[in-house]
Amino acid sequence: PTIYFITPTYPRREQAAELTRLGQTLMHVPNLHWIVADDNQACNDMVTKLLKKFGIPFTHIASPMPEIYRKAETIPRGVANRRAALNWIRKNVKSGVFYFGDDDNTFDLELFDEIRDTKKVSMFPVGLIGDYAVSSPVLKEGKIIGFFDSWPSKRKFPVDMAGFAVNIELLLSHPNASMPYKAGYEEDQFLRSLGVTIGDIEPKGKSCTQILVWHTQTTKKPVPVLKFRTRPDNSLRELYEE
Ligand code: UGA
Ligand code: MN
Repeated sequence: PTIYFITPTYPRREQAAELTRLGQTLMHVPNLHWIVADDNQACNDMVTKLLKKFGIPFTHIASPMPEIYRKAETIPRGVANRRAALNWIRKNVKSGVFYFGDDDNTFDLELFDEIRDTKKVSMFPVGLIGDYAVSSPVLKEGKIIGFFDSWPSKRKFPVDMAGFAVNIELLLSHPNASMPYKAGYEEDQFLRSLGVTIGDIEPKGKSCTQILVWHTQTTKKPVPVLKFRTRPDNSLRELYEE
């Protein structure tokens, strides 16, 4: 089966570095299609050019976050663009497995071997998430019976976006399945909308004993607004920050 790897991304000064590191990981994965979903009015040229360098099959689509959510107290990041990627899959794909791989996470190549044969939904540990070092399903006698996560918050599936993979036939059989614009509850409500039950979930990552994906985060800095001072002859004198 082909893995459809969905990456929401947005313009900021760290973006090219994140996508370069991720693209150079994905170059090692056979039979993978990269869906890069730009949180932007239109596809960013810089991103399209970068994606071509890796030589992996990719689709670059754009779908901006609606303005009302940008002003929210806790912003639901990457929802509009992940929704657009799911719609692209619904229109263009009949079978395979999809996975949400944020542009700043770190992926072990073994993860791809583990999730490729997902029958319905598979789940596995994610490292460096929340207040604990790991978020993971809890198993008893090989079956998932619960979850270990630093923020359960009445969620049926207290898991991170990077902690599950889904068979595309399950998505196609739930045409109304969708991700909510509700920060913190995107994963749980999306999985519920797919009709997932705890008994359906296939543990991966060697029965959830291995961390094969990390929720790494890059320190962010805003792009400074730089202005020029010019000499009387109009030549450049210096840059200064406003
Ligand atoms: C955590 C979860 O791991 C994400 O899966 C979840 O989407 C996010 O919280 C959330 O719901 O807020 P975190 O590291 O805190 O992730 O968030 P980011 O890495 O900043 O964003 C998650 C993804 O959305 C990234 O791929 C990022 O490029 C993208 N994003 C972020 C956008 O597309 N637009 C934005 O305005 C911000
Ligand atoms: Mn992140």
